[in-house]
Amino acid sequence: MPVTPASDLTLEEKAALTSGSSFWQTTAIDRVGVPAIMVTDGPHGLRKQREGGDHLGMGDSVPATCFPPAVGLGSSWDVDLVERVGVALGVETSIENVAVLLGPGINIKRSPLCGRNFEYFSEDPLVSGVLGTAIVRGIQSQGVGASLKHFAANNQEGDRMRVSSDVDPRPLREIYLRAFERVVTEAQPWTVMCAYNKINGTYASEDPWLLTRVLRDDWGFDGVVVSDWGAVNDRVRGLAAGLDLEMPSSNGVTDQQLVRAVHEGTLGEEVLDVAAQRVLDLVGKARAGAGRISGPLDVDGHHALAREAAGRSIVLLRNEGELLPLRRDAKIAVVGAFAEKPRYQGAGSSMINPTRVDDALTAIRTAATGQVTYAPGFSVAPNVSDAEQEDLRNGAVAAVAGADVVVAFLGLPARGESEGYDRADIDLPVEQLALLDALRKVTPNIVVVLSNGGVVALPFADRVPAIVESWLLGQAGGSATADVLFGDVNPSGKLTETIPLRIQDSPAHLDFPGEFGHVRYSEGLFVGYRWYDARGLDVAYPFGHGLSYTTFAYGAAAVTSGVDGDLVVTAAVTNTGTTAGREVVQVYASLPGGAVQRPPRELKAFAIVSLEPGETREVAIAVRRADLAYWDIRVDRWVVEGGTYTLEVAASSRDIRSSTSVTVVGDAISVPISRESTLGEVLADPVAGPVLQSAVAQMMSQMDGLTDIMPEGVDPLEMMASFPFGRISMIAGDSVSPEMIDGLIGMANAPAED
Ligand code: BGC
Repeated sequence: MPVTPASDLTLEEKAALTSGSSFWQTTAIDRVGVPAIMVTDGPHGLRKQREGGDHLGMGDSVPATCFPPAVGLGSSWDVDLVERVGVALGVETSIENVAVLLGPGINIKRSPLCGRNFEYFSEDPLVSGVLGTAIVRGIQSQGVGASLKHFAANNQEGDRMRVSSDVDPRPLREIYLRAFERVVTEAQPWTVMCAYNKINGTYASEDPWLLTRVLRDDWGFDGVVVSDWGAVNDRVRGLAAGLDLEMPSSNGVTDQQLVRAVHEGTLGEEVLDVAAQRVLDLVGKARAGAGRISGPLDVDGHHALAREAAGRSIVLLRNEGELLPLRRDAKIAVVGAFAEKPRYQGAGSSMINPTRVDDALTAIRTAATGQVTYAPGFSVAPNVSDAEQEDLRNGAVAAVAGADVVVAFLGLPARGESEGYDRADIDLPVEQLALLDALRKVTPNIVVVLSNGGVVALPFADRVPAIVESWLLGQAGGSATADVLFGDVNPSGKLTETIPLRIQDSPAHLDFPGEFGHVRYSEGLFVGYRWYDARGLDVAYPFGHGLSYTTFAYGAAAVTSGVDGDLVVTAAVTNTGTTAGREVVQVYASLPGGAVQRPPRELKAFAIVSLEPGETREVAIAVRRADLAYWDIRVDRWVVEGGTYTLEVAASSRDIRSSTSVTVVGDAISVPISRESTLGEVLADPVAGPVLQSAVAQMMSQMDGLTDIMPEGVDPLEMMASFPFGRISMIAGDSVSPEMIDGLIGMANAPAED
């Protein structure tokens, strides 16, 4: 049943409709039969507050499956799996009669210190965009909507409701907006949530460039822009910029401001009509999808999916001497409080009330046939004295005596990372490092299992044989960890963010979190591995790294180009071990000698191949031409530069297995010539260049003796290449008159004749 058009509503009704009526509900317009719809968090499970909950929206929520947060799910690189998790999220959303799930979050991990990195997929826009697309598709396939957040350049929690992310146009487009562009154009999310922060001085919630020019005009978004909760600074300005729906309710205060602005003529009513119509369309979509799925929730089925997803999210960082997988009959000493009481999600608005929680200790005991002992080894509670920590440590050292292997669960305490504030460092707590040192004195056979939402420094990386990065894995993380430890699941996750050796090495180190309301993105394009590679810095573990219980060999890479300009990169991959396994094959591109600044390599595509022992498969990976483009600030659009690109087929950003190259014809661009253009630019112009060439030759010939005194090899023309064209008469005299300058500018900029 179509919903009433906006033209049927009064001014006051339209103002009310475009803001919430409560924390989670839009406003019903009963007179014309428009119902309220419910929107709620997100992103890795449904956080639907129970009826009668607190007015801040933080209270008790209905039980829902807590899937791995994005930090885990991202490490799977598994598009199909992520889409299936999206479907399950959509099912749970639909069963609970919620219209829009507030996720996914696809912000780029600019600094390891961002307190909310656990809610985001990657430091790389391609990974974030591809996985974001998959999860939105999955969610929306169930007749409910997603909310792509937080749009945009929301890369820290400190000062998040005010800070201006000061970003240059290229990194803004190529790093921070690129994933949003992909998801919007490929998955058409029902809503986009604008961020709290400002971008280059303008609040995201009232930025016409962001919300209209880029999002709607460039990318074709036709859904609703909803504010992050409390992100509205000036609703009238926001509405004019392209914000459709304010959430949560302002108790009518900003509705009255809108009505007043229309009466006073500072806001055209037609602007409000457009926003109201979009909200009505959203209500219409929600109605059409409502009731598609009825309960009860398949709790076991979704828990099993959460376990599968968690297993694929685990990254095996190190496995010297094949300490893993564990033998089932080994004497196993489990140490570390996280084994018993898992950290499985991060603090803040994304906290799901799980249907159940698996702990690793129980799962290890279930899977093992030999003796399993346990000692907590440390406490994560605040204000625990050094003496108490020492007692716990000594207890653990005693407990591991006689064990074949120690599995040490280390990680960040829950308060160490959260929505709302950033981290002070990337270090594990000292008592945990002290525990590890103490354990190392009694046994070399230690497997470290990490629980953390943001990366941690691993100063012990070379001193323990095995390290398993198990992130925050959702409610089934404990059993999934046991699955990997015993080899029931062969690990296939890979890092979607670099683990640096030291926070001081990280790209944003000197400009995070900024000061006085501004944070300067001074590292520009060089975010994550782009930075470490360009700077030639060693890292603890590089972007894309992850081991398996088997090994893979790569054959020679080859590339073919299709008619549409997309490329297909192929390489044979062989499972050279004795266990079936999955390999995430990555393709990086670079353009040696390119005209614009570029990182040494950038991820352009990836694919997963599953192989039985000894099996070989030819993997074909499509690289889209559009993904080769850089943002050209001179013409304000994406441009593919022509040239010979190197394409590397890799097991990680620092484990390039083979490479090939391909010549790509560039996009034609015409950069207008002006008096500001340099002599070099004008000489390179296909129209004005040749004419100017002879004038310049004449000019040079008039400069008697100049070439005689020039040191050998110094080209006077090269010296003058950066001279502004408009000022050249000063040195050129008669040979390039002001009239000639104007004439050449006119010729160069004249539209080409067919
Ligand atoms: C968060 C959003 C969340 C919203 C509603 C905000 O503080 O930034 O991600 O969806 O609250 O809980």
